[in-house]
Formats: sequence, C-alpha cells, structure tokens
Amino acid sequence: MDKIMVEKSPPLRGNIRVSGAKNSALPILAASLLGTEDIILEDVPNLKDVDVMCEVLSLLGAKVEFLDEGIIKINSANIDNYETSYELMNKARASFLVMGPLLTRIGKTKTSLPGGCAIGTRPIDLHLKGFRAMGAEIDVDHGNIGAYANKLVGDRIYLDFPSVGATENIMMAAVMAEGETILDNAAMEPEIVDLANFLNKLGADVKGAGTSCIRIRGVKELGGATHSIIPDRIEAGTFMVAAAITKGDILVENVITSHIKPVIAKLREVGCEVYENGDRVRVIGTQNLKATDIKTLPYPGFPTDMQAQFMALMSVSEGTSVVIETVFENRFMHVDELKRMGANIKIDGRSAIIQGVDSLMSAPVRATDLRAGAALVLVGLVADGITEIRDVYHIDRGYESIEEKFASLGAKIYRV
Ligand code: UD1
Repeated sequence: MDKIMVEKSPPLRGNIRVSGAKNSALPILAASLLGTEDIILEDVPNLKDVDVMCEVLSLLGAKVEFLDEGIIKINSANIDNYETSYELMNKARASFLVMGPLLTRIGKTKTSLPGGCAIGTRPIDLHLKGFRAMGAEIDVDHGNIGAYANKLVGDRIYLDFPSVGATENIMMAAVMAEGETILDNAAMEPEIVDLANFLNKLGADVKGAGTSCIRIRGVKELGGATHSIIPDRIEAGTFMVAAAITKGDILVENVITSHIKPVIAKLREVGCEVYENGDRVRVIGTQNLKATDIKTLPYPGFPTDMQAQFMALMSVSEGTSVVIETVFENRFMHVDELKRMGANIKIDGRSAIIQGVDSLMSAPVRATDLRAGAALVLVGLVADGITEIRDVYHIDRGYESIEEKFASLGAKIYRV
C-alpha cells in the first residue's frame, strides 16, 4: 500500500496549473452513454475515479480510447449491457451516475448500491424519486438496484435537498424522456452547468442549469460533440490553502474565479492577500493567520469539499474558529487525525470548534476520505518532522499527481 510522506517544508512558491474537475468529468463521462456518435472530452483529469468510470463505460459496451494526455474519445453507438459490477461501483460511487443515461437510452439499468467515500450514509432516495416520477419501476434486492421503463415521461420533480448527484442523474434521464421535465430545488454547482452545456452540445434541450429550476425538453436522440471539462475548483482551493498555511506565494492557473468566491473571501478573512487576474489567482500568505468561521452549504455557499482543508488551516490560525457542516452528517473524520498531530478541536454534533495552536507535530495518520487526505498533506507541510499518510488511494481518487504538483512548489513530499 502506498504512503505519502510529507516533511515540514519552506513556504510554497510558484505557479501551478489546475486540472479538469473530477466532479464534472465523472457525470460527463456517464452522459457520454447518451450519444450515438463520437464524443471527444478534453482536459479530463488523470484520476482513479475517472479510470473506474471509463471501465464502467467499457463494460456497458462503449468504446473508450485514451487519445492523448487528458483527451478521451468515447463511442456509445453499441451499448449492449445494462449492468455494472459490485467491484466497480464499490471503487467509485459516482458510477451510480450511469443509471439515468442507461434508463433513458435503453430502458433498463441495474447496479449494486453505491460505496465510495465514507462521509455519512449518502442515500440515493432523491435519484430514485426522480426516476419514479418519470415512470420508472425501481427494484431493490440483495444489495442490487434496478430501474426499468418502457418509456420515460417528463414530470415536475421537487428535490427535498439540492443534491448534486440526483440533479445530474435526473437531468440525464430527462434528456430523452417524452415531454418536459421541470426540476425544482435543483443543485446549482458549476459542474451541473458543465454537464448541461455538454448535453446541449449533444443535441439536448436543457435550460436553467445553474439556477434552482432546470427545464429539460426531451429529444428523440443525441449525437456527438467535443467538450473541455471545466477547471477543478476544489483542487484550486486546496493549493490556495497551501499558500496560506505555509505562508507562501502561489499563482494558481486555470481557475474560474467566480466558482471559488467563498474560498477567496475566507482566505482574505484569515489575513491572506488574494489577487484575481483572468483565469489566475494569486494567494500570498500572512505571518499572522487569524481564526474564521465556516458553514458549508450547497453552491454558491462554502463547499463541503473544502471544509477539511480549511480546518487544517484553522488548526494553526490564532484564535477560535467554528466550522458547521450542513451538507453531510458525518464529515469530521479528519478531526481525529488532526488531533493526533496536536490540533485542538472539539466536535459537537455538526459543529467543530478549533482553537488554533502554535505548532503541530508529525504522526502516522490515515486519509479517511479524499478531502481529509488533502487536509493531512496541508498540515504535514507545517508540522515538525515527517508526516506519514496512509490509505492514500482516497487522495488518488481526486487529485492528479499530488506529490509532483506540491513538490513543484517546493514541498518536501514523496510517495513510498
Ligand atoms: C457531490 C460531489 C461531492 C460533494 C457533494 C456535495 C461528485 C462526484 N461528488 O457528491 O464531491 O461533496 O456533491 O457538494 O460530484 N442526499 C440525500 N438523498 C439523495 C442524494 C443525496 O439525502 O438521494 C443527501 C446526501 O446524503 C448529502 C447531501 O444530500 O447529505 C448532498 O449530497 P449530494 O449533493 O448528492 O452529493 P454527491 O452528488 O454524492
């Protein structure tokens, strides 16, 4: 099993280019099952989760070719399978996103119930509510879930919570349903907009993505397209926090700054200088990091996927910070690991109270999920000694070449 070793490092400096967004690439790969002509995707990040999704597409009968770095060609003209395996679903929860496309394209889909990051129970009731509303029959047995429909018919669907995955899955099912689907209280994340733009390039009729009401008019069939994945706002945010925690100076390139407004605002609150310039953002750290409070919310609120990294920062910021996690009910697993390194954090339900300390010390720690792993890399950069991070497969699910990228900024980091 790989481990990542992080040694106390000098302030990180330099330029770093952000990869394409994992959370855009995964639904867009799933949506590639909808078109019958060639699809070319550009700026696809080189990640474990992407590999798994490509395996899922191949298993279903799509032709998947890796043309060049970050470029994948997919042809789904001959989908001849509707079942994915337990192993693949267990490796990447997002493979559940093939359900909507398969249901609308071939009228049936069967998979095992999803696994993935252990950040709460992560139910799928809202996905299923949408499929049922469009006329699908759902069948759950022995850990498998099937959805079947001779034809899907558009409906008005209200999501009790603006779930990103449910919005995507329902939107993909609706693109070839009969009539109009109106999705209320839809998620508004930039990745939803990217998916809608991609679907429209294939010939779909999706309007309103990026607002809480998405209208999808069903079309008979979808074709092909070339599409570039948007930059990963969470990877960008992680490097921005790296500049802050190491008191460094990093220019993050390939960013859509409007996607990371809460991160920019919070870094300014802790005392960093942040300069936006086109698709680049520069973060200059401060010698006196100050405490701040964070409440995670659906977009455009503060992203839950940046919560762990900010908690790492707050652990060494002067004063008392409070984090309230409202999106997932169990996303504080990194706290025990941070405490092993000397952080002073107390949990009370969905709140964490962080009393900043002057210094942290290295320890063997576990990446309990993807973003928790990123938080441990960040504290490893400032903790005395060498931090040994285990279970790094979680990190590889979502960060492309993490050690190379951090090392290029001067971090002492390597894999063993
Ligand atoms: C996506 C992101 C993930 C991010 C999350 C929230 C991908 C591949 N992953 O995950 O990185 O942390 O959005 O921004 O894009 N819920 C239900 N019923 C459902 C579905 C969700 O109750 O049917 C709840 C979940 O338990 C959770 C909340 O809704 O508490 C948010 O989940 P959701 O937005 O669906 O997250 P994902 O799409 O799984």
